[in-house]
Amino acid sequence: MRPTGRRVLVSGASRGLGRAVAQAFAANGDRVAVHYASRADEARTTLDSLPGTGHALTGGDLTDPAGAVRVADAAATALGGLDVLVNNAAVNTRHPLPDTPYDAWVAAWQQHVAVNLLATANLSHLAARRMIDQGTGGRIVNIGSRGAFRGEPDHPAYGATKAAVHALGQSLAVSLAPYGIAVASVAPGFFATERVAPRLTGPEGDAIRAQSPFGRVGTPEEIAAAVLWLASPAAEWSSGTILDLNGASHLRT
Ligand SMILES: NC(=O)c1ccc[n+]([C@@H]2O[C@H](COP(=O)([O-])OP(=O)(O)OC[C@H]3O[C@@H](n4cnc5c(N)ncnc54)[C@H](OP(=O)(O)O)[C@@H]3O)[C@@H](O)[C@H]2O)c1
Repeated sequence: MRPTGRRVLVSGASRGLGRAVAQAFAANGDRVAVHYASRADEARTTLDSLPGTGHALTGGDLTDPAGAVRVADAAATALGGLDVLVNNAAVNTRHPLPDTPYDAWVAAWQQHVAVNLLATANLSHLAARRMIDQGTGGRIVNIGSRGAFRGEPDHPAYGATKAAVHALGQSLAVSLAPYGIAVASVAPGFFATERVAPRLTGPEGDAIRAQSPFGRVGTPEEIAAAVLWLASPAAEWSSGTILDLNGASHLRT
C-alpha cells in the first residue's frame, strides 16, 4: 500500500461525510472516484472541490447489483485501478415499530438492507477482486454506526444493518488479509451533515448534543480523518477493528 497517489472509490460522496472523505483523500494526494446516486449536481460540487487532478465522477444506484458493477468498472477505468474503497452510501429513515404500518415496515427493512448491507457487500466484492487481481493489496473502510451497539428504537433497520456492516468487515478482514487487504469499520455517533441538520436545529438538538460529555456532535472532518488513517499503510494491523468515533457518548465494554 502506498501512502499517497492511491486510487480511491468513495460511495455516496454527493454531500455529507462522503464529500469530506473524498476531500481528505484528495488533500492527501490520492485520486478519488466520487460516487453518487441521485444528487448529480452536488456530486459535481464535491468533484470540483477536490485538490489535485485525475479525480472522476461515477453515478449509479448501488441497490442494483448490475449498477454496482457499472460503478466499480467506471471508477477503476477512470482511475486505472482501485486501491481503496470507502463504503459510505447508506439510508436512514424513521420507522419505529409502534407507529409504522406493516407495509411501511417491510419497505423500510428492504431499503435499508439493500443499500446499507447488500450494496456494501457487493461493492466490497467488486473492489477486493480488483485488488487481488492487481496484486497490490488495498484497503476497505466501512462507515458503520454507534447505533449498532446502542440501539436505534426509531430506526431499527438502520441499527441492524450497521451491525451487519461491522460483522461483514470483520469477516472480510480475515479472508482478505492474505492478499494484503486490510478491512476496518468506523462506528460514528452523531455528526453534523446536511441530512441531520433539521434534527440538530430542531427541538431535540440540545438533547442530541448532550449525548456527548463534550456537549457537541462530531464533524464530518473528524470522521474523515479516521477513515483516511484506517486506509493508510500504517493501519494494516488495525484490520478487523470497529473504531468508535462518538465523543465518549457511548462506551462499549
Ligand atoms: N450523520 C450522522 O450523524 C451519522 C452517524 C453515524 C453514521 N453515519 C453514516 O455516515 C454515512 C454518511 O452519512 P451522511 O449523514 O453524510 O448521509 P447522506 O448525506 O444522506 O449521504 C448518503 C449518501 O448515500 C448515497 N445513497 C443513498 N442511497 C443510495 C443508493 N441506493 N445507491 C447509491 N448511493 C446511495 C447518497 O447518494 P445521493 O445523495 O446522490 O442520492 C448520498 O451520497 C452513512 O453511512 C451513515 O449511515 C452518519
